[in-house]
Amino acid sequence: MPPAASDAAFAVAFTHRLRFTRDVLDPANPVLSEVLAPAEGSPGKLLVFADEAVLQNWPTIAPRLEKHLAANLPWMTLAGEVTSVPGGEQAKNDWSVFEQVARMICESSICRHSFVMAIGGGAVLDAVGFAAATAHRGVRTLRLPTTTLAQGDGGIGVKNAINAFGHKNFFGTFAVPWAVINDEQFLSTLSDRDWRSGISEAVKVALLKDSAFFDYIEQIAGQLARRDETALRPIVRRSAELHFQHIANGGDPFELGSHRPLDFGHWSAHKLEALTSNRVRHGEAVAIGIALDSLYAARIGLLPEQDAIRAVNTLRIIGFDLYDDALTDTSLFEGLEEFREHLGGRLTITLPDGIGRQVDVHEVERDEMLAAIDWLKSLVESRRSRTA
Ligand SMILES: NC(=O)c1ccc[n+]([C@@H]2O[C@H](COP(=O)([O-])OP(=O)(O)OC[C@H]3O[C@@H](n4cnc5c(N)ncnc54)[C@H](O)[C@@H]3O)[C@@H](O)[C@H]2O)c1
Ligand SMILES: [Zn+2]
Repeated sequence: MPPAASDAAFAVAFTHRLRFTRDVLDPANPVLSEVLAPAEGSPGKLLVFADEAVLQNWPTIAPRLEKHLAANLPWMTLAGEVTSVPGGEQAKNDWSVFEQVARMICESSICRHSFVMAIGGGAVLDAVGFAAATAHRGVRTLRLPTTTLAQGDGGIGVKNAINAFGHKNFFGTFAVPWAVINDEQFLSTLSDRDWRSGISEAVKVALLKDSAFFDYIEQIAGQLARRDETALRPIVRRSAELHFQHIANGGDPFELGSHRPLDFGHWSAHKLEALTSNRVRHGEAVAIGIALDSLYAARIGLLPEQDAIRAVNTLRIIGFDLYDDALTDTSLFEGLEEFREHLGGRLTITLPDGIGRQVDVHEVERDEMLAAIDWLKSLVESRRSRTA
C-alpha cells in the first residue's frame, strides 16, 4: 500500500545577481558578458522591451546593444526589434503591456532558457517581469532599472506585479531575475520629480536599518534638493545594497511570513496612489507614508519625537511635498486592511523605534493616526507659510 500521506521539504537555490556600472552598452563594458557567461550554450535569444521614455531619451539603445552583442556575446542574438512599452504606472494598470510582452515571447519563440530584457522604471519592470515570469511558467529575465526608485529598490527585488480591481500589485509573482544591472547613466534624463522620487525608499531603509546612512542622507539633503548627481550615486547604491541584503540574507525572500520591513510607510502610500489615481507617484507617496508613520510612532511613544521630526525634515529638505488632501479621505484607513490582506495573516506594520531600528506592531490606533495626520499637516503648513 502506498502511504496515505507524504511530506517532503525541499529547497531550491537561487543566485541573485546585482551589478553597478556606467554605460553597460559600451563594447568595452564587461558586465553583460560576465552575468550572461553562466548561460553560454543556451539558445542565446534575447528579447528586449524598453520604457518609451527611455527609448526617447536614449534612441541608440537598439543599435548599441546589437554592436555590444556582436563584439562580446557572439552566441547571443536579438529576437526582433527593441519593443517600446508605455512607461509609468499605466504600464501596470491594465493587461495591455502584459499581453504585448506575452505575445512577443510566443511569436519570437522565446523558451525558458532564452532571455527577456526589461529596461525601464519600476512600473515597466513590474509589468514586463510579470509577463516573462508567467510565460512558459518563467522565462529568464534581465532587468535594467532606469529610475532612482527602480535602481535603489523596485528593480532589486524578486517581485513583479500589475494592479487590478483598484488594488496595487494585485496580480504578480515572486521570480528571481537572472541579473539586475544598475547603469547610473540612465538617471541623468529623469524628470526632477522622478529623480527625487526614489530617494524616499533610501530614507525608508535607512530609518529602519542603518542610522549612519540616515545621518549621511540628512547631511546631504540640500545637495539632493539641487539634483547633485554625485550626491545621489552613493545613496542609490547603499539603498540597493540594503534592499538586496534584506532579500538575500533576511530569511524570507518570498515573504511567506508577515514581517515586511521594506513596506514601512506603504500601507498609506499604496492607498494614496490609488486615491489620487496616481497623481502622487509611488516614491512621493512613500515619502508621505514614512513621514506619517514616523509621527505616529512618536505619538504612541515608540520613537523619540526629535527623531520623527528629523525624518520629516530630511524628506522635506530633499523636496518632497509631505501632505496631500487625500490623507483626509475617509477610505484611507481601508489601506490598512488591504495591506494586511496583501501580506496575508495578521496585520503587521513595521515602525522605527529609534533611527536605524525597527519593531513590528499589529494594530494601529486610529485616533493616534488621525492626530499624526493633523500633526503632519501642521508641520507642512507652518513650513509653507515661512517660505511663502
Ligand atoms: N517589484 C517591486 O519589488 C517594487 C518595489 C518598489 C516599487 N515598485 C513599483 O515601481 C513603480 C514605481 O517605479 P518608478 O518610481 O521607477 O516610476 P515609473 O516606472 O512609474 O517611471 C516614472 C516615469 O519615468 C519615466 N522614465 C523611466 N526611466 C527614465 C529615464 N531614464 N529617463 C527619463 N524618463 C524615464 C517613465 O516612463 C515614467 O514616465 C510602482 O509601480 C511601484 O509599485 C515595485
Ligand atoms: Zn515602495
